[in-house]
Amino acid sequence: MSPARASRVPRHVAIIMDGNGRWARQRGWPRIRGHREGAESISAVLRVCEEVGIEVLTLYAFSVENWVRPREEVQALMSLLRRYLRQREHELHKRRVRLRAIGRLNDLPRTVRAELDRVVAATEHYGERQLVLALSYGGRAEIADAARRIAREVREGRLDPEAVNERVVAQHLYAPDLPDPDLVIRTSGELRLSNFLLWQISYAELYFTPVMWPDFREAEFRAALASYQGRRRRFGDIE
Ligand code: IPE
Ligand code: IPE
Ligand code: MG
Repeated sequence: MSPARASRVPRHVAIIMDGNGRWARQRGWPRIRGHREGAESISAVLRVCEEVGIEVLTLYAFSVENWVRPREEVQALMSLLRRYLRQREHELHKRRVRLRAIGRLNDLPRTVRAELDRVVAATEHYGERQLVLALSYGGRAEIADAARRIAREVREGRLDPEAVNERVVAQHLYAPDLPDPDLVIRTSGELRLSNFLLWQISYAELYFTPVMWPDFREAEFRAALASYQGRRRRFGDIE
């Protein structure tokens, strides 16, 4: 790939939506109120994606590590997710966005899984824009799941071990057809990736902001895109 100024609109933006709990606690409110307010930020970001022509938006909504949180918070997040899917489905149709999910989806409560599968199926025919929810997602879990599937194919004689290369690994990830993220955004001031898309972001541009996710709306998203556009991507090459 030749070096290129990142002047174009990113094809794929991935966001670690962090800081909901702190946003609420700072106001003396229960953490779940932050999660509810955070759901509004998703709509704001989706609007900008449509306007500027971003093809794929991946949102880290629940990590495979988040199951260790107090049971009430996990339950509240799961019911919020189910409600979100039901109430915002119309928005996906209006914007002709295909919903997808990546992660260990079998870990999700049955009712959430059913709602998710329903909306995924209902929006499957939209081709131009995609919203990908990372749910019970972990980057290492994804790579381990890919390795297991590759090992099975080798055992069944369908794959030569010598043929395993980067392309084969990538083909066994959860959503192999998606382009790698060009830009990864993390809100809330934490400077870490927390096990997000480890394979796919090896050459992504990173953007960290102290803004908490419920406050991350159009203006903040546009600022992140402007930062991306000012960068020079070299992919190992010079200049
Ligand atoms: C991000 O907000 C949402 C999820 C991880 C589900 P947090 O809940 O992590 O909020 P903070 O980081 O505790 O403020
Ligand atoms: C990352 O946020 C996961 C999601 C945004 C879903 P966390 O709040 O779980 O990350 P850590 O624990 O601070 O690294
Ligand atoms: Mg957090």
